[in-house]
Amino acid sequence: MKKILVCGAGGFIGGHLVSHFIEKGNTKIICADIKPKNFWFQFNDNLENHCLDLKDYDNALKVTQDVDYIFNFACNMGGMGFIENNKAECMISVLVNTNLLRAAKENNCEKYFFSSSACVYNASKQKNSFISGLKETDAYPADPEDGYGWEKLFSERMCRHFTEDFGLETRIARYHNIYGPLGTFDGGREKAPAALCRKIIQAKKNNSKSIDVWGDGEQTRSFLYIDDCIKGTLDVFNHSEQDIFNIGSEEQVSIIQMIEMIEEIADFKVDKNYQLDKPKGVRGRSSDNSYVTKKIGWKSENTLKEGLTKTYKWIEEQINSGSNIDKFCRSKIDNK
Ligand code: GDD
Repeated sequence: MKKILVCGAGGFIGGHLVSHFIEKGNTKIICADIKPKNFWFQFNDNLENHCLDLKDYDNALKVTQDVDYIFNFACNMGGMGFIENNKAECMISVLVNTNLLRAAKENNCEKYFFSSSACVYNASKQKNSFISGLKETDAYPADPEDGYGWEKLFSERMCRHFTEDFGLETRIARYHNIYGPLGTFDGGREKAPAALCRKIIQAKKNNSKSIDVWGDGEQTRSFLYIDDCIKGTLDVFNHSEQDIFNIGSEEQVSIIQMIEMIEEIADFKVDKNYQLDKPKGVRGRSSDNSYVTKKIGWKSENTLKEGLTKTYKWIEEQINSGSNIDKFCRSKIDNK
């Protein structure tokens, strides 16, 4: 059994990956996150859990000792509301990836996974609603999302050179807006699927007719359900060669169309108050999965409606029990 380090294990995707490994019977897992343990979205007492800052090289050296595989999800991130207003903070995450790569080399780790983002793609390809899906080659010439996207693109490049120069096996997935249960739904870092589910749940509860929507609602995205993301992550990781793949959905919708789906799930209609001064990001974004499907056979399986139904239900349970994301995390530990 390989010894696996998951960095960012207290976060959304890291937490789901750790749970997946546990389900598969792998107990040789080390979890690391900068957040105090009572703020981790998922937490398992039986594992080796570390609360530490990987921007410090000594910490990176310590947690990578005797590790075979490293999965790096650790970065300061969030939805558009966070990344547009915290560009420097997002870029500082470059230290995490740099330290982990150096430590992986120093400790002779076997393989390294880096979680990149659709934010690396060239802005000029994302100027219209309902664009053609972005292909992996569309990251160059480089004009990524300011701040967060530049950090991801630079770190991707560093992975590549650690493979070429030092022989460290690296694998990279570019995630396209991953959503699902056990992720943030309030507090400022939430992405559109969770934010809009929350707003509609609250409107229904309070019998208020209107919700705030950022932008004019005509901007488009594709959203990938977490279970598809975990499967794709492992498929990318297990691929035999160093490469970069989209892990996203090809089901591109406008924000208005996504709201209509959530209204159907909620069985509740809302009026939309469009806020044109809020963070909007690119006008259109979607994934082209032809390369990833051809090379490794991965496809997304959950439709947006299916994924939103599960996400809505989970957020509704939290809100009905008087929870917000922080309370939810703390209750898992307090109840033990
Ligand atoms: N977050 C949020 N909250 N977005 C909203 C809301 C709201 O209440 N209402 C409308 N939107 C709109 C945003 O203005 C944006 O145009 C679109 O929904 C999507 O917003 P996000 O889900 O926050 O982010 P994103 O798709 O632009 O970028 C996200 O995905 C990238 C990968 O595809 C971010 O999480 C990035 O960090 C990530 O790399």
